[in-house]
Amino acid sequence: MKTLIVYYSKAGENWFDGEKKFLEKGNTQICAEFIKECTGGDMLPLIMKHPYSDDYDQCCEEARIAQQKNDKPELINLPDSIAEYDTIYLCYPIYWSMAPMAVLSFLEKYDFANKKIYPLSTHEGSGLGASVSTIRFKAKGAEVLDPLPIPGTLASKSHNRIKNWVETH
Ligand SMILES: Cc1cc2nc3c(=O)[nH]c(=O)nc-3n(C[C@H](O)[C@H](O)[C@H](O)COP(=O)(O)O)c2cc1C
Repeated sequence: MKTLIVYYSKAGENWFDGEKKFLEKGNTQICAEFIKECTGGDMLPLIMKHPYSDDYDQCCEEARIAQQKNDKPELINLPDSIAEYDTIYLCYPIYWSMAPMAVLSFLEKYDFANKKIYPLSTHEGSGLGASVSTIRFKAKGAEVLDPLPIPGTLASKSHNRIKNWVETH
């Protein structure tokens, strides 16, 4: 059986170290790539058909409204099946103390029976927020284990932390 590294991440303007900054690569993508280095798993980026704005403030507003309306975005690149994978690393930024709605779109599409899900969140202070309980509720049949919160500003310095996490479960 195989490992799948699923991630939602957003390059562009974001809140970083107390100010708005343009990020060439999203924090969560950096962490997902470290997991790839440690596990050799396959990568699956979650790409919204209609992405949120590149403007940080507008993105915050769009994401807030989507959560309020329970509006799950269409994702454009999903495989028909993930049956060949038994271990899933699910990586996402915290949006308004939750997982982004794209993660919920992903969780609604598949059967997770007998799969292990290891969540990794990047954040600016909220840690995992309410994301893990939501993942447990949505990913029917999965074992959701050993979640890891990483401060977004430390993503590029988290290789060893992520390596230890992967190696100890
Ligand atoms: C729409 C939006 C909402 C956010 N809400 C929170 C939040 O509630 N708590 C928090 O700690 N960080 C929050 N953040 C910060 C992100 O979680 C953090 O910058 C993350 O590392 C971004 O990951 P990415 O670069 O992979 O997209 C938010 C960022 C955005 C864009």
